[in-house]
Amino acid sequence: MSENRVVYFVKRPSAMVAPDAFEVRREPMPASGQTDAVLVESLYASVDPYMRGRMADRKSYTAPFEVGQPMTGGMVGRVLESSTEGVSPGAWVFGMWPWAEYALVPARSLRVLDPHLPPTTALHVLGLTGLTAYIGLTKFGRPQAGEQLVVSAAAGAVGSLVGQIGRLMGLKVAGIAGSDEKCRWLQENLQFDTAFNYRAENFSRTLADHLKNDGVDIYFDNVGGPVTDAVMSLLNPHARIVVCGQIALYNLDYGLEERPRFSDLLISRAQASGFIVAEHQSEFPEALETLGRWYGEGLLVAEETITNGFDHLIEAFIGLFHGQNRGKAIVRIK
Ligand SMILES: NC(=O)c1ccc[n+]([C@@H]2O[C@H](COP(=O)([O-])OP(=O)(O)OC[C@H]3O[C@@H](n4cnc5c(N)ncnc54)[C@H](OP(=O)(O)O)[C@@H]3O)[C@@H](O)[C@H]2O)c1
Repeated sequence: MSENRVVYFVKRPSAMVAPDAFEVRREPMPASGQTDAVLVESLYASVDPYMRGRMADRKSYTAPFEVGQPMTGGMVGRVLESSTEGVSPGAWVFGMWPWAEYALVPARSLRVLDPHLPPTTALHVLGLTGLTAYIGLTKFGRPQAGEQLVVSAAAGAVGSLVGQIGRLMGLKVAGIAGSDEKCRWLQENLQFDTAFNYRAENFSRTLADHLKNDGVDIYFDNVGGPVTDAVMSLLNPHARIVVCGQIALYNLDYGLEERPRFSDLLISRAQASGFIVAEHQSEFPEALETLGRWYGEGLLVAEETITNGFDHLIEAFIGLFHGQNRGKAIVRIK
């Protein structure tokens, strides 16, 4: 272990993100010995759609990545060297640090993981993904048993948990995903009531036909664009739209018309709420307690698509925008 590899962000993409936005550099190992800095060996990296948003220099809820700096994200690793009490060598930790094989990370920014739980759950059902699904649906969706929930990117990390939580809360759940195979999986393995392939011919008409009696009480939107257009005219009076993500727009050139359908909001008197999970930290303990209990009781399937190897980190990230993952996309670094 004399050398480190680090993924740098080197070019802002103007359309679909491609490998030329990144550069892998070989560097000396990070120098240890700073007080409060812990040397970690990266074991798993979370790849997330929001990172594409941070690659663009435009108004957002968080600062853009700086060109020429390492990519940074949610990581799980093992502590190699530490002089901080409570963060001992050998401990598994979660934190935000660079896409690198090794990193020096402030001890206070790390969460030591429960050794009895699979470590990837910290990037997934018992991390920001689960929190986004739970807080988004319960706080902004305001579900009532018997209501009809529609969730887009339903076979992805957040979406697959939203649908399952919806079922646990007594909702009727319809998912929207990008292949027949994903739709079958949602119904057969996650007990979604129905699922629709947005790439199928006549998708909008099929969705409308299916929901013509129930309509839509809660739309949990991970996608935006044409998928959302298809749902908006199906909203019931006083429906709630949880605007969680807009992945269909992240790779489009800036200047895109986002087509807000305010006429649909007026007709349905619906309420649309954008939310960012990081702003709801006071609700994390209760949400994690509930998610942990459901997961422990086997009530939540925490599906993961694990890509093996640091060399495949960039392609796993790009794969998010081509539907290559089912459940949470994670890269096993070692
Ligand atoms: N508000 C918050 O605090 C918060 C927190 C976390 C995540 N998010 C957002 O939640 C959404 C889901 O995130 P995630 O981490 O769970 O990712 P994910 O759903 O696991 O991965 C992305 C999925 O989106 C679908 N997709 C990609 N491009 C698409 C397009 N043009 N049109 C329709 N679907 C497309 C793909 O599935 P298909 O095969 O179905 O196309 C892909 O598998 C993202 O928009 C993300 O930005 C928001």
